[in-house]
Formats: sequence, C-alpha cells, structure tokens
Amino acid sequence: MNNSIPNDTFKTIINRKSIRAFQDRPIPTDVKKQIISAALRSPTAGNMMLYSIIEVADQGKKETLVKSCDNQPFIAKAPLVLLFLADMERWNDYFSCCDVQELCQKRDAPYRTPVEGDLFIAVCDALIAAQTAVIAAESLGVGSCYIGDILENYEIHRKLFNLPRYVLPITLLCLGYPTEQQKNREISSRFEEKYILFKDTYHHLNENDFAEMYKPMQNKHFASGNYIKGAGNIGQHYYLRKVSSEFSLERNRSVREMLKNWSQENS
Ligand SMILES: Cc1cc2nc3c(=O)[nH]c(=O)nc-3n(C[C@H](O)[C@H](O)[C@H](O)COP(=O)(O)O)c2cc1C
Repeated sequence: MNNSIPNDTFKTIINRKSIRAFQDRPIPTDVKKQIISAALRSPTAGNMMLYSIIEVADQGKKETLVKSCDNQPFIAKAPLVLLFLADMERWNDYFSCCDVQELCQKRDAPYRTPVEGDLFIAVCDALIAAQTAVIAAESLGVGSCYIGDILENYEIHRKLFNLPRYVLPITLLCLGYPTEQQKNREISSRFEEKYILFKDTYHHLNENDFAEMYKPMQNKHFASGNYIKGAGNIGQHYYLRKVSSEFSLERNRSVREMLKNWSQENS
C-alpha cells in the first residue's frame, strides 16, 4: 500500500466506479446477505432506522422500472435491484399501537404526524444505508449503480411497491458482477478539493474559479464531441442535459406530488 492508498478500505472507496453492465450470473445468497447486513449497520438518526429496503426480484417489476426510470435497460439486467425508501410509516404506525396520541391528550401536549423535518432525516437514513451497501458490495467484487430517476413517476412506483403515505422512494441501486469492459473502464474525474472543501465559512466561487474548475471537464466533453448541439460551454451543456431536460422536469413534478401526498393532513 502506498501513502495515498493506506489500506484496503481506502482502495475500495477510491477505485469504485458506477457499473452499468453486469455479468450474467446471480449474486450468491450469502453475498447478498452480507451486503444487506452491512447496510443495516449504517449510522441512523436516533437509531430509529427511518428507512426500508425492497429487493426488486420480480422481472416484470424490473421491466417497469426500466421505463419509469427514464428508459435505462440495464436495470432489468441487474441481478440485484434494491429500492431504498425513506420510511416514517413504521414509527408512525408504532406510535398508534403505543397509544401515543392518548398519552399526549392526557399530558395536554400536541400530537403530530410526520412533517418535512422527519422526511429529511429519513432521506438521510435511506441514502446512508444505500451507500453502505455500495461500499460493502464493492469490497466483495459486486459493482453497483444508483438510479436517481426513481424520483420520477411517483404514482407508478407507489402502486408498484404498495407504498403507504409516509414511505417515499429515495434511491434505487442496481448491483451485479461487472463485465470485463466495465472493470477496465477508467474511473471518472472529480472537481478539485479546493472548490468543494471550505474552512469555517462558505466560499462563493467567481468567474475565474469556474473557468479553472470546469476546464478539464469542458476539454474532455468538447474533445470527444460529447455535448448537446448548440451548447457553447459546459454550463450550457449541463443545463440543457440535466436541468431543463424532460427527465428532470418529470422528477420535479413527481417529487412535488410526493410532498403533497406526505403533507396533505398537515397543510
Ligand atoms: C443520486 C444519484 C443518482 C444517480 N442516478 C443515475 C442514473 O439514473 N443512471 C445512471 O446511469 N447513473 C446514475 N448515477 C451514477 C452517476 O452518474 C455517477 O455516480 C457519476 O457519473 C460519477 O461516476 P462514478 O460513480 O463512476 O464515479 C447516480 C448517482 C447518484 C449519486
């Protein structure tokens, strides 16, 4: 091990890359169990485990996800697909079982159902569990890729997985053994640390910072011809590809629907 890679854990983290093509072989049950057991050891707010995980084993459901998550065919080919949910339903239901509302009445204290703050902390829990699964899988030779498009088409996903009101789909993970081509693919670049890590206070970046920060990305995209027609720089390219694109508009509509559904009683 050299200084920049001090141990095997670091090696796993530093060399990880998203895997979008999988070998045609299943993940053995014991490996799957290890990945899940690692995820369940994740830090969790107040040790409440405000998340649930659904293993999407049904091929028909995987095919539906291909379409509902912006047409990404590799979802259907992933041997293991895990849906991470922010889950306040379990505790809310348990509070009902425990007559918490009656207790509050007796104490003349307000009783409340989950609101935005509860949702945000549950989202943190779900994502942290997902990332632990990613690293655990990677350490076992199993590659993975997040599917952020699970935030789209809330109505479809709610029905597909029978999600109650206080359970929202946060992220989807596709896992499997990487193909040789994927193994050999270079890892992707990142912005330099100085643009991301600040000390004590936020640092607003200026035009010169941006020019320097995006230069490698811009050079790479434009050299390879991988940019949207009409875009003159990386900002225009990303805006057209990621911000004003159909999938991102659908994501915003869908998330608005999720929030409406979550907070209907509290509004
Ligand atoms: C929240 C989130 C959502 C993502 N959604 C997708 C997705 O829908 N499809 C996909 O192919 N990759 C998706 N990715 C993977 C990213 O594209 C990938 O992490 C990024 O390009 C950096 O590459 P790397 O993971 O290989 O380092 C997502 C990653 C994150 C963290």
